[in-house]
Amino acid sequence: MDLFSQIEEPEREELKALRQELEEANYEYYVLNRPTLSDQDFDFKMHRLQELEAQFPDMFDPKSPTQHVGSDLDKGQRTKDKGQNGKAFETVKHKYPMLSLANSYSREEIEDWVRKLPSGVEIVCELKYDGLSISLWYENGKLVRALTRGDGQQGDDVIANIKTIPSIPRYVVGTPSVFEMRGEVLLPWERFEALNKEREEQEEPLFANPRNAASGTLKLQDPKEVARRGLEAYLYYMLGEDLPGTTHYERLQTAKQWGFHISDAIKVCKNVDEVMAYIAYWDTERKNLPVATDGIVLKVNDLAQQEELGYTAKTPRWAIAYKFPAEKQLTLLKEITYQVGRTGVVTPVANLEPVQLSGTIVQRATLHNEDFIRSLDIRPGDRVWVEKGGEIIPKIVEREKSKDRPSDSKPFEFLRICPECGTPLIRVPGEAAWRCPNENGCPPQIKGKIEHFVSRKAMNIDGLGEETIDLLYQKGLLHNIADIYDLRQEDIAAQERLGEKSAQNMLAGIEASKQVPWSRVLFALGIRMVGETTAKKIARAYNNIDMLQQATAEQLCAIDDVGPQIAENIVTYFEDTRNIEILARLRQAGLQMAGEAAEGPQSDKLAGMSIVISGTFSHHSRDEYKALIEAHGGKNVGSVSKKTSFILAGENMGPEKLKKAEALGIRLMSEDEFLEIINQENQENG
Ligand code: IVH
Repeated sequence: MDLFSQIEEPEREELKALRQELEEANYEYYVLNRPTLSDQDFDFKMHRLQELEAQFPDMFDPKSPTQHVGSDLDKGQRTKDKGQNGKAFETVKHKYPMLSLANSYSREEIEDWVRKLPSGVEIVCELKYDGLSISLWYENGKLVRALTRGDGQQGDDVIANIKTIPSIPRYVVGTPSVFEMRGEVLLPWERFEALNKEREEQEEPLFANPRNAASGTLKLQDPKEVARRGLEAYLYYMLGEDLPGTTHYERLQTAKQWGFHISDAIKVCKNVDEVMAYIAYWDTERKNLPVATDGIVLKVNDLAQQEELGYTAKTPRWAIAYKFPAEKQLTLLKEITYQVGRTGVVTPVANLEPVQLSGTIVQRATLHNEDFIRSLDIRPGDRVWVEKGGEIIPKIVEREKSKDRPSDSKPFEFLRICPECGTPLIRVPGEAAWRCPNENGCPPQIKGKIEHFVSRKAMNIDGLGEETIDLLYQKGLLHNIADIYDLRQEDIAAQERLGEKSAQNMLAGIEASKQVPWSRVLFALGIRMVGETTAKKIARAYNNIDMLQQATAEQLCAIDDVGPQIAENIVTYFEDTRNIEILARLRQAGLQMAGEAAEGPQSDKLAGMSIVISGTFSHHSRDEYKALIEAHGGKNVGSVSKKTSFILAGENMGPEKLKKAEALGIRLMSEDEFLEIINQENQENG
């Protein structure tokens, strides 16, 4: 490696890490509706990534988050409402791609944007509604499709849910024969609060903000429930050919006459001063609106000028968003408490005198780590400023120095022993976190390891959630991941909150997990810093656990993505006899400790059989079933014929296939029956 590339290396690493982080943030935001980054942090990271990509053009990647918008597409396999591979909505290509908007945060940035426009342009200012975008298609006066943004090129058709919104017309008159209206679907504050209150009473997870609630609601498969929750929509953009009007403003007024819900807060501005006045007015006034807004949108009014300005890969050049600054409040820092995480990291938490912030009450904020607390120089008893960027996780940004400290205020000292198990904490040089080293004896770490093991991307065991793990841990039935495979029907069913049905579900999930491939088993073990992608790469390099156990740190470092620290963690993991015991028990239970390629078919149980897969499943995805059929010597075929041996039938099997199967007398086999057959085979072989 020459000197230059050595200097460049950290920046290239940063670029790769940012791509991954932003991709994950998009997924959390658009699919899981559980954002972890504030919008502002997201934008700053995106800017930095753009800078780095400009610096290293050889690293251009069309899949980079700078080149596409975040995707909300339902890819199946995502939420438990739908079963594992149930695809709830039809994905349809957008006639016109659905883009995003460039963001700005200051007058200077707006001025920069205006400078690039033809002189004297009119700018339409609108509120930026904080919901999710929707594309409505009308044909011959009738609403025929309602697509989410999806990945910008194609979206999910959620028309049944959209039809529950009273302000969206199903029929319109006097319009062109085909046209598209775009707008934002929102859950009004009042509805959002009522919904969360209800969820709290039913001990269901709360929505962080109305946007997440709206997004979760729009993807429900129960239009009645959607109707009950009470979504609202504002429309802000008309598309199509031969549409009336020559300006954006005129078009929106026409849309209003056709019966669409168009905001009254639209203003045509002639210069940046007028734009800034609009911003100043609405930054305050928006608090009285029934729905959430997070900024304003500036659009070039003249449609011919819009066309001339055109688009970049992700955004129009004729429009830009201005984001309102995060709201701040002053409050009392009552106490600092500590939370021990799955990996033993001890996180300090600020307990605050409750304050109202961006529509919700804030009483806790993360303090990240010791250095963060020191850098703010905060102590219990101080007055602090709390901010909520992107209305997600509140953070303390500053101590109010003009306020006196209480007379008994002492410099802050970080906790030295674990609040959960009393073990002295350690702080590894170079790391910011204090950690409890008692990995196998500290309750949150034990439970956390099990939670990680059963999670969707790991062993994907349904029916073993956080609360159940806690319960079984308390009852002494679950102390490590191997104990899962010793759970017996009667032990589980004997628990007050569980019963027969949950016991059956849980055991079916546990049984199914025995088919989870080696790379995911490796990820599930929870070796420190071995994430999903790294586990895949390691599993590819080491096709079974015995080979991996024998690898030296040096050999491990040869794997792409594995640095000295990860290599060390792997070696240390295998040096611990407790881990070796657990691995032996997992192997005994029948988990996949080797990759399929090296093993060839696992049995010939299905040899010579042609098997059709139909419907939606809850234990494995379709692809996983296909691989299983092949691994046991069978053939997966697409259509039912008299040669079909049986149909692996999930829920909601296609009516045509069902009819044909009945006519030909072909057997339908449930996924549980199927897994049972395969697992029996495994044991015999095993
Ligand atoms: S115009 C081609 N106008 O903001 C650009 N978008 O961050 C079309 N949004 O995806 C968008 N209020 O979901 C426009 N008055 C408004 C808006 C608005 C909210 C959303 C929209 C868009 C996102 C971009």
